[in-house]
Amino acid sequence: MAYPEPQGTEREIVQVNPTPRKPRILLAASGSVASVKFGNLCHCFSEWAEVKAVATKASLHFIDTASLPKDLKLYTDEEEWSSWGKIGDSVLHIDLRRWADIMVIAPLSANTLGKIAGGLCDNLLTCVIRAWDYTKPMFVAPAMNTFMWSNPFTEKHLMTIDELGISLIPPVSKLLACGDYGNGAMAEPSQIHSTLTDKERLMGKTKKPQKTKQLSVAIAEASSAGEEAQQQQQSQPQTPRKRGRPRKIVERTDSGEIKEEEAAEVTESQSKKLKTTEEQQQKDDDEEEEEQKQEAEAAWMGDMKKGEGQSVAPKEPPTRRTRRKSKPRKSS
Ligand SMILES: Cc1cc2nc3c(=O)[nH]c(=O)nc-3n(C[C@H](O)[C@H](O)[C@H](O)COP(=O)(O)O)c2cc1C
Repeated sequence: MAYPEPQGTEREIVQVNPTPRKPRILLAASGSVASVKFGNLCHCFSEWAEVKAVATKASLHFIDTASLPKDLKLYTDEEEWSSWGKIGDSVLHIDLRRWADIMVIAPLSANTLGKIAGGLCDNLLTCVIRAWDYTKPMFVAPAMNTFMWSNPFTEKHLMTIDELGISLIPPVSKLLACGDYGNGAMAEPSQIHSTLTDKERLMGKTKKPQKTKQLSVAIAEASSAGEEAQQQQQSQPQTPRKRGRPRKIVERTDSGEIKEEEAAEVTESQSKKLKTTEEQQQKDDDEEEEEQKQEAEAAWMGDMKKGEGQSVAPKEPPTRRTRRKSKPRKSS
């Protein structure tokens, strides 16, 4: 039986507002001369986020560690190994991957770009990347000599990392540290910083691809969600990109500029149509397979009858493998 609400009483809604925490940003530097600006970047982000840093061996040639914020923890390959002694000890690259809400690699060297694209992981930085949960945002700001930048490998590697959902903060043209003029210089730290803090993008007010939504989600989660939910999500294996998710196309123009476009999304109706076609195809395949099976079995029976009374080993009945002609079964 339903009881009527007592008149004149107001229902009080008590909102539990968990103590917000700052977003956790993992900043990383690789071996480009632009690593001289890494200290500056660390200071910018430390103003509003919890920051930890990772540096490759080569980047340490350029980073002035005295320029880093005093309370910043800088991790190198040394820590990866010194923090581990025996089975059961925590593994630094996994801990960092769990800890971070967002990752920013600035500068990104040609070498580390190639390693990410190829899935290689032979140092702390590339191990974090290789273990990364791509539902969390990752930004990269490449920096290299203009000849390296215009090398065909760069485009190939950029296409691959885009597939993973990594966002590119494109380099700029200027007089490079080596004396050459051209594209390949890392975007200014202020530009990198504003890419992440752009309020409109964070709030999702403008129409942006999924990656931007992920950033807003990550920031929101960082402020309110508990560790538990996040850890639960992290324990699930992540697929890099699902059907229907917007894809970003990275193109280089004749002038060497990087152009980004959002590719058309697969709409729900397109997706349904695709599914129906796949199902029909599967049905056809099954029917064809059944016919072949019957033919093969009839032939086998025939052979057996012919061979009656002879001391020859009977042929094997047709197996699934021998029944199939050439069409491979589609994986569902
Ligand atoms: C003085 C100097 C400057 C360099 N500058 C760059 C650079 O701006 N970008 C780049 O991709 N590689 C640059 N390199 C080459 C990288 O340091 C080298 O490929 C290194 O292996 C990168 O390692 P990492 O990706 O593990 O940090 C430079 C090398 C030297 C010696």
